[in-house]
Amino acid sequence: MTLVLGIEGTAWNLSAAVVNEDEVVCEVTHTYKPTTGGIHPREAAQHHAQFASWVISNLFGELAEKNINPKDIDAISFSQGPGLGACLRTVATAARALSLSLEIPLVGVNHCVAHVEIGRWKTPAKDPVVLYASGANTQVLAYRRGKYRVFGETLDIGVGNALDKFARSAGLSHPGGPQIEMYAKDSVNYVNLPYVVKGMDFSFSGLSTAATDALQKHTLEDVCYSLQENAFAMLVEVTERALAHTGKNEVLLGGGVGANMRLREMLDIMCDDRGASFYVPEKRFMGDNGAMIAWLGLLMYKAGDTIRVDDSHVNPNYRPDMVDVTWLKE
Ligand code: ATP
Ligand code: FE2
Repeated sequence: MTLVLGIEGTAWNLSAAVVNEDEVVCEVTHTYKPTTGGIHPREAAQHHAQFASWVISNLFGELAEKNINPKDIDAISFSQGPGLGACLRTVATAARALSLSLEIPLVGVNHCVAHVEIGRWKTPAKDPVVLYASGANTQVLAYRRGKYRVFGETLDIGVGNALDKFARSAGLSHPGGPQIEMYAKDSVNYVNLPYVVKGMDFSFSGLSTAATDALQKHTLEDVCYSLQENAFAMLVEVTERALAHTGKNEVLLGGGVGANMRLREMLDIMCDDRGASFYVPEKRFMGDNGAMIAWLGLLMYKAGDTIRVDDSHVNPNYRPDMVDVTWLKE
């Protein structure tokens, strides 16, 4: 059995996990919660620095209970990007320190690709079109000729950030997505809001602002409902066009916004109409989690895809299509 320890900390969630080929052996998470407003990048990085040793020592404690010695670990993986620079650097430092002190190879993984691979591991999806919808990222991805290509993406902010930004303006606490979902359930009154799809890309910033403005004339429930309908229809439209373009017949959902039941319902209806299969992993594997970083680390390690500490710089703008998919055979 190969054992890989992975650390995630691109934004608010600091999470470390150990996986083998069959299962997540253990996972320990400590989440940064902003006292006011949204994520403050510097505070989030300070949180990660403060709790990195707590997370790792608890993880080692859980390993010890299973009679696994840290020396048994085959590789240490971490998110090289995309994400908040200060957070990425903090987590990379922790990963390098573990790699050097335990004399274990280091693997740098792309966070977006990790969302895809954990979904392929934890659902029956084999070669899906992936809708990765989170706070900071919103992309439609699919494998083609050695890379996960970006078929569509946000031109400004991620769909989750658009929801959170609107929620804050409506006086709701962070994160706003779940609360918007709750209020939306109490309305079926559609209020006209912008719907912005350009080619295969989407834009959410104007929609979020327009939703805030609409609160002057409409109820919170009506605006939440309409905001969801527009934002999610935009995501579904591009996902459907990517299906048609690639000829694939599976859709995989990932990212924290994937928890939303209305988004799932809309994707399910679209897939049904096209005769495609729709897959959603368990919730713990949708938002940012250490297991996905460990799992992609395991795939890359087995493909010989390790890096030297000297080459392990982070990249806040690391795109999934920059990664050679060394672990998949055509
Ligand atoms: P990334 O680094 O991948 O961008 P993230 O820091 O945004 O990740 P995630 O856990 O993937 O973290 O996603 C968090 C986002 O998911 C937040 O914007 C939150 O509002 C949104 N979200 C969570 N639950 C729901 C829900 N039920 N409906 C809509 N949005 C949701
Ligand atoms: Fe993510």
